[in-house]
Amino acid sequence: MRLILLGPPGAGKGTQANFIREKFGIPQISTGDMLRSAINTGAPLGLKARTFMDAGELVPDELIISLVKERLQQPDCANGYLFDGFPRTLPQADALRQAGVALDYVIEIDVPFDEVILRISGRRVHPASGRSYHIKFHPPKVEDRDDITGEALIQRQDDAEETVRKRLAVYLEQTKPLVDYYANWAKQGSVDGKRDHTTTPAQYRRISGQGS
Ligand code: AP5
Ligand code: ZN
Repeated sequence: MRLILLGPPGAGKGTQANFIREKFGIPQISTGDMLRSAINTGAPLGLKARTFMDAGELVPDELIISLVKERLQQPDCANGYLFDGFPRTLPQADALRQAGVALDYVIEIDVPFDEVILRISGRRVHPASGRSYHIKFHPPKVEDRDDITGEALIQRQDDAEETVRKRLAVYLEQTKPLVDYYANWAKQGSVDGKRDHTTTPAQYRRISGQGS
């Protein structure tokens, strides 16, 4: 199965991607996680991407497209994958189409922007794994500690309120048009992302009215 999760920053793409990844045994391809990992390891890609990310801007298409193409060559992608945060611009969607990727689902998680701000302001992440929590909606067992490793949780650099507002503006301008781009495509669906995050993949498909 090959699918795309579309949605604004903080909509819950990463949270839902975890459910879907486990249920269907496919890898999650999160360009945001890949870029953050490149920053953490000091890789050249991270050095190039950091300024854009810290400013709430998109990283240039050519960097993202080659990153994803390389990732798709890896053996774990042979039976499908889930894109989280990609494609994010029309040129990225075109590149995917030109690469001949046959998508099964494109799902938009629709969450109002005031809810997104609440979600992002309370988000805490475990940098090594990308696992994310929320101080109120999905708290860790021990305050500010990852449930699995016990390591410290942090706030993302780009989660400062001003940067989040910039990311939302960029989403409206550059990514939201992809909903129309995929709109004529039979398996595109939108889910109400305001449900709490114990919503499981089975419920998720039911509310989308798509899939089997
Ligand atoms: P990326 O990492 O993709 O960030 P994003 O799209 O802004 O999305 P987030 O990760 O902030 O939110 P999410 O939807 O995953 O929500 P989450 O599940 O964490 O990209 C970061 C940056 O990298 C970009 O700004 C750009 O610079 C660059 N980049 C990445 N991809 C790129 C690309 N393709 N092209 C160009 N540049 C690119 O949930 C958020 C919070 O809400 C959590 O605390 C969670 O616990 C909580 N929550 C989740 N679901 C619920 C629920 N149902 N109810 C209550 N709380 C919930
Ligand atoms: Zn995410």
